Amino acid sequence: MDNKIKKVAVVGTGVLGSQIATLTSCFGYEVSAYDSDEGAFKRALKDIGSLIESRGKDPVVTVEEWDKGGEKVVVCGELKEALRDADLVIEAAPEDVAIKREVFKRIDALAPEKAILATNSSSIPISRIEGATNRPEKCLNLHFYFPALGHNMVDIMGGTKTTDETFQTGRAWIRTVGCVPLTVNKEILGFCFNRVWRAIKREVLHMWAEGFVDLRDIDRAWMIFSNMSQGPFGLMDNVGLDVIYDIEMVYYNESKDPKDHPPEALKAMIDRNELGRKTGKGFYTYPDPEYSKPDFLEA
Ligand SMILES: NC(=O)c1ccc[n+]([C@@H]2O[C@H](COP(=O)([O-])OP(=O)(O)OC[C@H]3O[C@@H](n4cnc5c(N)ncnc54)[C@H](O)[C@@H]3O)[C@@H](O)[C@H]2O)c1
Repeated sequence: MDNKIKKVAVVGTGVLGSQIATLTSCFGYEVSAYDSDEGAFKRALKDIGSLIESRGKDPVVTVEEWDKGGEKVVVCGELKEALRDADLVIEAAPEDVAIKREVFKRIDALAPEKAILATNSSSIPISRIEGATNRPEKCLNLHFYFPALGHNMVDIMGGTKTTDETFQTGRAWIRTVGCVPLTVNKEILGFCFNRVWRAIKREVLHMWAEGFVDLRDIDRAWMIFSNMSQGPFGLMDNVGLDVIYDIEMVYYNESKDPKDHPPEALKAMIDRNELGRKTGKGFYTYPDPEYSKPDFLEA
């Protein structure tokens, strides 16, 4: 365990925050969690239960360790309580810069002076959030990739004032929770691998929305090519289609290129509350999606 970080607080415990808190707890850290919706942590962990069962070949922790780790996370009803004595605070609230700035402002006011503040944002550089705090030198991006699936890597990127000490502490900490740090040397929207994944998402969403191919054939192709247990549409369902939409909008708002705008058909699904695994329906239906059936690749 890294000796500079002993206690970690996670703020926002939906799909990703709940996984970050659990993973961190599995690796022996004291973890507290806060969400404006107090039931979010338990609900999110339950929702991904079936996913954990079908984890890939390289789980970071076993299912048993995962369950025990989740039980040890202290869910707090007040933000102040969750932040007490924290050395590292990881924010995983919705992908909206205004919300993140507001959350960072509150965290900054309540967290110990020593605490490093990180955002798990999938696309927003910390440089757009750090100004909401009085400690930009202690702010950074730490972007996780669905640790419940065993994707053991984390993008790390600093802001305009992040000190080398903060960065190196964050980098060392990532290794202590069984993950490989993907270091971003110069600010870029989407960090390291997430930008690659985003290029794939943009392409397949347009192929689907414009009716060129059946989304299942794209997923089949991906699964055969990569030997993964799901393709891009299955992955997007697991992330949450509302989250995907918000991320795509961050890129669109940056470029204003119509090609970067997520398709209206995706927005229509969100309006129908078809958000993927978390609402039981997205591109596939859950908990038993077609891509998990033994004959999916042969169909
Ligand atoms: N879903 C993914 O696969 C994934 C992967 C990597 C990173 N991320 C990033 O993680 C962040 C969260 O995404 P998610 O998928 O977990 O979203 P989510 O909608 O599942 O969870 C967000 C949580 O934040 C809570 N929240 C909202 N406002 C809050 C506030 N003011 N204070 C505290 N909690 C608040 C909500 O109640 C909810 O439980 C986003 O920035 C997203 O880009 C998501």
